[in-house]
Amino acid sequence: MFQAAAKTLSVASTASVSRRILLSIRHYCMKTPTKLRVSEALSGAELGANVKVQGWVRSVRPQKANLFLHVNDGSSLQSLQIVAGSELNDPLLTFGSAVEVTGVLRKSPHQKQPVELEADQIHVVGECNPVDYPFKIKERHDLEYIRQFPHLRCRTNAFSSLLRIRSEATTAIHSYFKENGFVQIHTPIITSNDCEGAGELFQVEPSGPEHEEDENFFSVPAFLTVSGQLHLEVMSGAFSQVYTFGPTFRAENSQSRRHLAEFYMVEAEVSFTQSLEDLTMVMEDMFRSATEHVLAHCAEDVALFHKHVTPGHRDTVDAMVKRRFPVITYSEAIDILNRSSQKFDFPTDWGCDLQTEHEKYLVKHCGNIPVFVTDYPYDLKPFYARDNQDHPKHTAAAVDLLVPGVGELCGGSLREERLDLLRARLEEVGLEDTYSWYLDLRRFGSVPHGGFGLGFERFLQCILGIDNIKDVIPFPRFSHSCLL
Ligand code: 4AD
Ligand code: MG
Repeated sequence: MFQAAAKTLSVASTASVSRRILLSIRHYCMKTPTKLRVSEALSGAELGANVKVQGWVRSVRPQKANLFLHVNDGSSLQSLQIVAGSELNDPLLTFGSAVEVTGVLRKSPHQKQPVELEADQIHVVGECNPVDYPFKIKERHDLEYIRQFPHLRCRTNAFSSLLRIRSEATTAIHSYFKENGFVQIHTPIITSNDCEGAGELFQVEPSGPEHEEDENFFSVPAFLTVSGQLHLEVMSGAFSQVYTFGPTFRAENSQSRRHLAEFYMVEAEVSFTQSLEDLTMVMEDMFRSATEHVLAHCAEDVALFHKHVTPGHRDTVDAMVKRRFPVITYSEAIDILNRSSQKFDFPTDWGCDLQTEHEKYLVKHCGNIPVFVTDYPYDLKPFYARDNQDHPKHTAAAVDLLVPGVGELCGGSLREERLDLLRARLEEVGLEDTYSWYLDLRRFGSVPHGGFGLGFERFLQCILGIDNIKDVIPFPRFSHSCLL
């Protein structure tokens, strides 16, 4: 090795080349420390190894002879304890600073952590002034406080736990559909249709000065999608089971704790359905499967919420996973509300839309577990909902899943697959030309089908017991908010 290098040196003419070769020899001969994530270090698999860990300081405890640090890199809720001689102490080692530590992993003599890193080098990569930093060491800041710092809150225990749970829940949902034979479809974000017909649309146009004000970029007005349903319906005409999971936009001027202007929706569409039960089975199964996955794969992170943020919520979650979801019709729901002694702010006459206060009451009434409400008044539902033709009441084959703490989590329906009925309804609302392509789906190989959408943020609220939807999404968008 050295001979080979020396030979190379004699050939090399410039000083810089010789220096590069010498450095590479040194690098080769010295054992380079293995770079580990904190979670890997904590697993104990590399005991005795020379390692390098990078992360952010969560605590600093200088003592007479030793210095103790906790370093976290987001790979787990637990931080890695670093033990160093006091000579490695540095005034720049503060709460929030970024560090790179090398040393040897040892079994810890303390019960609290299985492993610690005996440091021989600590390098402060990025300073953090503890006076200006909005989070303080040893303080448990509440979700409302940390929400004021959307650019920094991922460094808190609570929000980093939330983001790991969100990531794992995303995996769980994709796995559920994959294991059950659904094909994932990337439905478009820019579209010309208002699937829900509620007019809560954000319009999309170029912003440049060369753009003519009175001319659309596309040949028709374009919007950010409010639902991928209609595009999924196209695909369900060839694949029979499809789903999509992506950002969805609603221009709701709502400052509520369960609405966002940009949220993530999981939507599924199933062909050859016989009844709403074909949909409620998928909704219930997916809910249970994703919840169990999160409880099993993020036990520590979930426990943080159930212990410190929403004590007592774990029992509710366990009941949701264990018990079958009851099914009631909208008419039964109205009877339950009208028999109740509770005073509601909104009317509960047959034909009125269910409000959050009604949904929460119905969930409590059914044992504080998720409940399906089916067969809503036909006039409350969008043009695509299948007519039950049950005069005089006149309902549509639509279903909502209501859950504890949140209210509506999913909305779905059988779709009107009968050409004549669909055409008549579109004509009634003057949309037969806009949706001529949608009518085509009923002309060519139409089958009974249906689907649903689940609000992903509301799902996270439901399993973690989090009151405000802004606390379960990395960067919340809502009306009158400042954007990052
Ligand atoms: O009930 P929605 O409006 O149903 C649809 O959009 C159907 N086209 C879905 C389908 O059948 N494929 O929305 C579905 C779910 C709601 O139940 C709710 O959980 C969530 O999406 N959601 C919102 N979540 C956060 N912020 C908002 N502004 C939301 N609007 C709806
Ligand atoms: Mg709905």
